[in-house]
Amino acid sequence: MVHCLIIGAAGMLGSTLARQLLAQRRISGKELSRLTLFDQVSVRLPKAGAAVRVDRETGNFEAPQTASGLVASRPDVIFCLAAVVSGEAERDFDKGYRVNLDATRHLFEAIRKAHEEDGYCPRVVFTSSLAVFGSPLPDIIDDDYALTPRSSYGTQKAICELLLADYSRKGFFDGIGIRLPTICIRPGAPNAAASSFFSAILREPLAGLPATLPVGLSVRHWFASPRAAVGFMIHAAEVNSAALEERRNLTMPGVSATVAEEIEALRRVAGEDAVKLIRHEPDPAIEAIITTWPKAFDAQRALQLGFRPDASFRKIVEAYLEEHAPG
Ligand SMILES: NC(=O)c1ccc[n+]([C@@H]2O[C@H](COP(=O)([O-])OP(=O)(O)OC[C@H]3O[C@@H](n4cnc5c(N)ncnc54)[C@H](O)[C@@H]3O)[C@@H](O)[C@H]2O)c1
Repeated sequence: MVHCLIIGAAGMLGSTLARQLLAQRRISGKELSRLTLFDQVSVRLPKAGAAVRVDRETGNFEAPQTASGLVASRPDVIFCLAAVVSGEAERDFDKGYRVNLDATRHLFEAIRKAHEEDGYCPRVVFTSSLAVFGSPLPDIIDDDYALTPRSSYGTQKAICELLLADYSRKGFFDGIGIRLPTICIRPGAPNAAASSFFSAILREPLAGLPATLPVGLSVRHWFASPRAAVGFMIHAAEVNSAALEERRNLTMPGVSATVAEEIEALRRVAGEDAVKLIRHEPDPAIEAIITTWPKAFDAQRALQLGFRPDASFRKIVEAYLEEHAPG
């Protein structure tokens, strides 16, 4: 019997993870008996079967007392996803550090106190980001590349990776940090992130709507579908942590694709009419940001540990259509 807690459960990935856990009702070969969904906004999900107890909790992760409340019921697996995204963390320095660093540290401390009380030692899955790597970067980044963040968001994620490794080394919890590729196609409305167009140039034409491409066709980046990302999170909860050999943070495998390859995948899946809805309007500010980002990784460690990426960029588009078919 396993109790999972998702912090940030109303978000794009948190809600997809919750739906998948409720669909499979098992994790680590055991029955999922309880799922606690925490967010600052209410979490909407289809009704679960009676077999799984689902608790929805609303609160502010920033408040120091929140974390001790969340660990009071001693969840076996904690998925720590709540965060403010890169654009917001860059604009609002204080908020970025409060949510992305301080709140995560409060959580780690609450677990440590519980560990000291009764030996509690959950699996903690922390979603890190490629933003821990900043330019200048090689074309392909291997697993031994140093963390070189060049944004507040990337710095906050990098600090949390170190904390996670140290708290795990001390045995306070059993942590694993997974650096997620950029998620594509992100469902819903465009957001303010500089990366938003990577999804918008596919999502909007697939819905018959126009989209703007602010960068050149040769821009290359590293992607995973929401489905693959949920697979990574669940595998991170299940993987034998002894195999991590004390290197607790891993770059997730993904698909490296140029904007031209993205558009070609769209053409193959939805035809030329969909491609014609993309209007190229260069935005030097966005291009300047994007060209400093990682292009591709050689994520050998994660592959050897059984993390599975999407098979191709076309599969990423098809996976989106299976879940969000127009009409
Ligand atoms: N989406 C991506 O491309 C991507 C890539 C790399 C890493 N990540 C990481 O994955 C995680 C999930 O990403 P997502 O795309 O689902 O983000 P999201 O913005 O959709 O979800 C984040 C959730 O955290 C919640 N949250 C934020 N501050 C909170 C607070 N103070 N108290 C309570 N809840 C709070 C939000 O309400 C939101 O529901 C994040 O840690 C993010 O940094 C995402």
